[in-house]
Amino acid sequence: MSDKTVNVALPKGRLGDKVYEMFKAAGYPCEALENPGRKLTFENPDVGIKYFWVKPSDVAIYVEKGAADIGVAGKDILKEYSPDVYELLDVGLGKCRMCVAAPSDFRDDYRKTLRVATKFPHVAKEHYSRIGRDIEIIKLNGSIELAPILGLSDVIVDIVETGATLRQNGLIVFDALFDISARLIANKSGYRFKSRRIDMIKENLQKVKENCDD
Ligand code: PRP
Repeated sequence: MSDKTVNVALPKGRLGDKVYEMFKAAGYPCEALENPGRKLTFENPDVGIKYFWVKPSDVAIYVEKGAADIGVAGKDILKEYSPDVYELLDVGLGKCRMCVAAPSDFRDDYRKTLRVATKFPHVAKEHYSRIGRDIEIIKLNGSIELAPILGLSDVIVDIVETGATLRQNGLIVFDALFDISARLIANKSGYRFKSRRIDMIKENLQKVKENCDD
């Protein structure tokens, strides 16, 4: 692997597939990645790129620690973990919102500690400390919408994309905290050593994004 090979952490799953299509359209295809089997690393030496599939919530840590030079992570993950990385580009994929949601008959009782189920404890704590509301965090790893249905929490702080999961589980949005989209991020020292290559990738991705917007 040449030292100018750029190592890219891609978020495994739906978002990652779209991100890879964007890199491919930007001039960084990788045939091996298109028939992955159980493999997790894929290189195309012709274009000097090596991809890794990682769990979406782990992209930021791979990039922060320098195991990957660049990666694509949702703004939700960046807000939750505040990794020490450069944020180079909003790639415009994975658009959704961070919301507070609850059953439609929910009324906040300020005499009680509010029980908040979430995958994003820092985001939730920051929001409620800003508005001075006393909360208890219930940290879950998925299917967050179940928590208020089963009485495990009063509300949830979670991602809403189409709103289908909320609707189908009888929940509604009470507050929208911020918009989310996927961002190209870079390791700080990796960026110093490979800035020309990384800037080129960023510019090529930007062009693909603009063509998609047209
Ligand atoms: C996310 C999120 C919501 C759902 C929102 O879950 O936590 O549950 O997507 O999408 P929608 O508004 O389009 O319905 P994910 O699919 O990542 O699964 P998880 O519950 O295992 O976290």
